[in-house]
Amino acid sequence: MIASLRHSLAGRLSLAMVGLFILFGSLAAWLLIHASRNYEQEVTQRIHHDLAQHVVDHYLLYRDGKPDYEAAKTTFHDLMILGANFEFYLVNKHGNIVAFDAKPEEVQLQDIRLDPVNAFLQASDEAGVILGDDPKNPGRQKVFSVAPIYQMGEVYGYLYVVVGSQARDALESRLWSSKMLYSSMGILILVACLSLLALLVVLRWFTRPLQQLTQQVQAVRDAGFDSSPEIQIPQLEALRQWQGDSHNDIHILGYTFAQALQTLQQQYEHVVSIDDLRKELLSHVSHDLRTPLASLLGYLETWEIQQSDLSPEKSSEYISTARRSAQKIAMLIEQLFELAHLDGNNVQVQLERFSIAELVQDVLQKFSMAAEQKNIQLQVRPQDSSILVRADIEKMERVFTNLVENALRHTPDGGSITVRIEASSGFVSIEVSDTGIGIPEQDIPYIFDAHFKAGNSVRENTAHGGLGLAITKKLLELHASAISVHSQMHRGTTFRFALPAA
Ligand SMILES: Nc1ncnc2c1ncn2[C@@H]1O[C@H](COP(=O)(O)OP(=O)(O)OP(=O)(O)O)[C@@H](O)[C@H]1O
Ligand SMILES: [Mg+2]
Repeated sequence: MIASLRHSLAGRLSLAMVGLFILFGSLAAWLLIHASRNYEQEVTQRIHHDLAQHVVDHYLLYRDGKPDYEAAKTTFHDLMILGANFEFYLVNKHGNIVAFDAKPEEVQLQDIRLDPVNAFLQASDEAGVILGDDPKNPGRQKVFSVAPIYQMGEVYGYLYVVVGSQARDALESRLWSSKMLYSSMGILILVACLSLLALLVVLRWFTRPLQQLTQQVQAVRDAGFDSSPEIQIPQLEALRQWQGDSHNDIHILGYTFAQALQTLQQQYEHVVSIDDLRKELLSHVSHDLRTPLASLLGYLETWEIQQSDLSPEKSSEYISTARRSAQKIAMLIEQLFELAHLDGNNVQVQLERFSIAELVQDVLQKFSMAAEQKNIQLQVRPQDSSILVRADIEKMERVFTNLVENALRHTPDGGSITVRIEASSGFVSIEVSDTGIGIPEQDIPYIFDAHFKAGNSVRENTAHGGLGLAITKKLLELHASAISVHSQMHRGTTFRFALPAA
């Protein structure tokens, strides 16, 4: 219990508070008692300042020019009956006590120090309390009044009056043990304890959120990051109670922690997903390369075995088929590398102004031979080279190549492929449409995923890794552009995106 108090912030604050309370409480009590006693003594001394002088002037009897000690004793006795508060002493000029009214054993000092006496006689009105010896209590300092006794113009001795005599001391000590004093002290202590308790409750109330936050942070630490992000959700849910727009520091701390955690989690998920992607890529690479590699090896082996029996035409046919397979392998590997490169975060985009119609025309030119073979019409509408866009020309060439290549492969003989360009405010919208076989509706959401093979896919016994559209989407994302698709089975497919106008 004590150990846990010493470790938590609330516990340490509470302990510190209790300690300070006791310390300052006792200090205040001591100061109060001291000050009030001081004040009381000062008042007493001021009231009785001229007492000794008065007694010297009116009561002290002289015989043969010297004070009459016996008469003085009687006078002291009479005076002390009137006021038990005073004790009278006659002292000579060296401070030796020469006469008093008490049992001799009660007076324990034989002489008193003269320094306080001189200080008293020379003091101005403003001087504070001056304490002198009490002959009955050696070592105790008391309020006193003193007056010099002159003999032929010289100081012969002093009348020394201790104010607040032993009788008074006894009374005071009886007072200390009085019920009244104890009950008021009890009330004081009770009030102090209650206010301390209230303070501790308030403190606990203020530090409770901090404890809560600490527990939440510990829970997050214990849960750790896992590849399944759902595990984090209960912990994040608890952290949602902290408000970022609050003025409360603890709220801001909690909110910031939740945000930092979210960022961390996103990054972690990103790393995990890249790792998954890498594994997926590896499995696809081996799968995609198997077919063209088998074909390449098959043709080369056949050619090697039958070399002597083959006609020159057959021989060159085998070799060129093998070469096409090798080319496709090369293309596939290039595409895989391109996608991996685009998955990284350090792809540079070099923006420049160019005519979009001219670029499309160049791309269509590359496919004109293949299109002619299938009797497919390739066109740009409108053929307006004044429409300029601001984009990375090399990347856009890849985009159009991918889209047109797909369209050509999925469009039966006699169809057409059209690229439409339309400049609108700040943007140029672009459509690549074909009159091909269309994409099954259930496959549309997946065609932009890498390695997706739709049910309609035309692969012409070649290596198509299903990477073209994934690469296209990424290239357009680099231009802050999104691509959408609209398709109807056996009617045709249209891909749409927009580029910033220059
Ligand atoms: N114009 C289109 N008409 C019909 N289906 C299409 C069209 N374009 C894409 N598809 C479908 O979307 C799939 C994914 O296309 P994508 O370009 O990503 O891969 P691919 O062409 O099969 O392979 P790669 O482009 O890597 O050579 C295709 O396999 C095909 O099924
Ligand atoms: Mg493709």
